[in-house]
Amino acid sequence: MRKAAAKFGILLLIAGATAAAAESSNLIANVSRRSVTSLNGTWHVIVDPYENGLGGRYFEDKKPAGDELVEYDFEHSPTLNVPGDWNSQREDLLFYEGRVWYERTFEHAKHAGKRLFLYFGAVNYRARVYLNGRLIGEHEGGFTPFNFEITAAVAEGRNSLVVEADATRRADAIPASNTDWWNYGGVTRDVALIETPDTFIQDYFVQLAKGNPGEVAGWVQLDGAAAARTVTVEIPEIGLTQTVQTDAGGRAEFRAPATPRLWSPESPKLYRTIVAGAGDRVEDEIGFRTIAVRGGEILLNGKPVFLRGISMHEEAPFRGGRAFSFDDDGTLLGWAKELGCNFVRLAHYPHNENAIRLADRMGLLLWSEIPLYWDMAWENPATYEGAEGQMRDMVARDHNRASVIFWSLSNETTPAPARNAFLKNLSAFTRQLDDTRLVTSAMNKWEDAGRNARTLSDPLGESLDVLGINEYVGWYSGKPEDADTLSWTSPYGKPLVISEFGGDAQAGLHGSITSRWTEEYQAGLFQHQLTMIRNNPQIAGMSPWLLMDFRSPRRPLAGIQDYYNRKGLLSDRGQRKAAFYVLQKFYHERAASQK
Ligand code: GCU
Repeated sequence: MRKAAAKFGILLLIAGATAAAAESSNLIANVSRRSVTSLNGTWHVIVDPYENGLGGRYFEDKKPAGDELVEYDFEHSPTLNVPGDWNSQREDLLFYEGRVWYERTFEHAKHAGKRLFLYFGAVNYRARVYLNGRLIGEHEGGFTPFNFEITAAVAEGRNSLVVEADATRRADAIPASNTDWWNYGGVTRDVALIETPDTFIQDYFVQLAKGNPGEVAGWVQLDGAAAARTVTVEIPEIGLTQTVQTDAGGRAEFRAPATPRLWSPESPKLYRTIVAGAGDRVEDEIGFRTIAVRGGEILLNGKPVFLRGISMHEEAPFRGGRAFSFDDDGTLLGWAKELGCNFVRLAHYPHNENAIRLADRMGLLLWSEIPLYWDMAWENPATYEGAEGQMRDMVARDHNRASVIFWSLSNETTPAPARNAFLKNLSAFTRQLDDTRLVTSAMNKWEDAGRNARTLSDPLGESLDVLGINEYVGWYSGKPEDADTLSWTSPYGKPLVISEFGGDAQAGLHGSITSRWTEEYQAGLFQHQLTMIRNNPQIAGMSPWLLMDFRSPRRPLAGIQDYYNRKGLLSDRGQRKAAFYVLQKFYHERAASQK
């Protein structure tokens, strides 16, 4: 009885949390197009396996003087590159998952009427940030950006910046303790100083009006506005200029007739867009498209589209480690294009902003996900709050990107009352943040509905717009040829996307089509899956698992996996496996038939 009451209490709490209006993010939008000072480069580090740094006051960044006892010295400590995970930079840190203290100094000249912010693209997993020995902020979540205001804390001249990065896995964290990817730790994305006017443009949203592609609509949010200010949104190429007044909270909404050329993978048209007001001005490149569902179809710009996709981890080709640069993602997305893709599932966490902006330019539709993966602490209100936080920041960073069509809540989580309530509420929360995109999830629970027929049986489907199905017919269960006669349905009448299928193959390992780990086995498995796709015209898309082999601590098979998941169509060294060409041929045929 008491347990049920407690459980009910927690569910109420979660429901209450979502009912309140979705709190907006304090993230500064479009950082790369602002006046920033990069703090990337080599930082001194102290590896702290016994969590000694806090008690040892490493954040004070002291220099041993005279006979004072100071048992650390950043200046003479080793360095690591920022951005960059520590695991792929130092052999001895490959398996390390604890704390590392980062330190660097920077010079700053204060300017009257200006504010200063410290911005991080991401730190995995928990970060505490100290400036001149004082804690200025903390952040949890390894794949979303955060910024802190340091106008008051920054010194004229030399400043000491110390970041405590802790990659320790925890059962109540997001992701939790068990994943099939490497827990790359550290300051994994860009770090920068952002200087702004006293009142500045914190965020904006410029898209086609929901349900009316003949209008551009959105909002501008100022930070620091004491009273109504004038802001303008301009898209010179289509002669659009909107001038509006902000309310007392610094927010202004706008709406205007406009008919921009629509963004699509075949024609990824971006428009120079200028948002200005209160002495601040930000330029962006924005594409305009509509995305919707109609029964089992996904409609891009009002027309049914088949998603020719591939799943992908954020792992750098060739050098390994967490990808972060335009080069890294240019290579990965270039391979997806070479495959004939119009869609990429970014698994299982928000990838870096460069990847999203590249997809906008290259013409790739995106599935973006927060790492609610496998078993989570569904009954923990702090975990729920963390999930809302990660979703809020992922949406805030990428809500102006035409390429992003899906916000995904989770991957392969087991139906149960607490989980169902958690995700149902998170789905409602996500729609409050952005009702112009589709909400999805990757599920793997189905019922056998008669001979070779499977029907999705996850109650989560009720709360989604598009249903992702992960199935590993021919690898974790059954034979590859079993897929030939399989049919997929769901009780929801919504679009089905096969969000994962696949099998491991070591590049260059050859043998009979029935020998696991060979390229022939993987290629054969793909052939059968494609037969299944052809036999299920109701399936609206697919994103096989996956583009490139990636590191995983769960894959120790010596001589074959060696701590890599080998389900890539390319090896981590860019070798194309036989299955790459099987899928490429199918996608080229499909693209030709869609013309
Ligand atoms: C799962 C999971 C992936 C994992 C893959 C695999 O379905 O979503 O993260 O890597 O299967 O087993 O290879």
